[in-house]
Amino acid sequence: MSGTLKIGVLGSGSGSNMQSIQDAIEAGSLDARIVSVVSDVPDAGILRRAERHGLDAAYLDPAPFKTKLDGEAEARTIAHLERRGVEVVVLAGFMRIVKPGLLARFPDRVLNIHPALLPAFTGIAAWRQALDYGAKVAGCTVHFVDAGTDTGPIILQRAVPVLEDDTPESLHARIQAQEHEAYPEALRLMAAGRLRVEGRRVRILP
Ligand code: GRF
Repeated sequence: MSGTLKIGVLGSGSGSNMQSIQDAIEAGSLDARIVSVVSDVPDAGILRRAERHGLDAAYLDPAPFKTKLDGEAEARTIAHLERRGVEVVVLAGFMRIVKPGLLARFPDRVLNIHPALLPAFTGIAAWRQALDYGAKVAGCTVHFVDAGTDTGPIILQRAVPVLEDDTPESLHARIQAQEHEAYPEALRLMAAGRLRVEGRRVRILP
């Protein structure tokens, strides 16, 4: 990879992380271009946000599975991303498990953001899990995606305090504010060729 990093974003929700990446690009602090935004939810906010920025945005029917992207749907998604020259796939609130086909096509090139300090609190609504558990520190993790769920090599993490009067919503908002800095930062490192995966560890080159 050389030159401006071509990013494809997969998301199912509001798209605030995609927005933070696009904002960094537009501000000139990230040498990248979002060349494709794909959602498995037809009316997802991420598609509307993408269109507002003039980005290529598409709904891809994820049938037949409810929780994963497999078979036909995965093949269509790969072809869609390839046609747009995607080099790095960014999962931003994508509520499906991606399967080995996509990972094999983009080796060490699929990133995810998770709203917890992994390996604690994998899976759904991780901020609520942290609150219910009584954790005093929460946060977010940007990581490479591997065949497991929220298990890939960690690129960077940002911590936030859990406050006495936190609700799931207030804690999630504090974590999301960090996500919106962490994802562009991870992509800046990626775009600069400064990430090297060595087994479980991601080395950040000077
Ligand atoms: C974020 O909290 C992210 O950590 C999780 O899903 C949420 C997506 O939010 N994986 P948005 O669609 O980027 O606003």
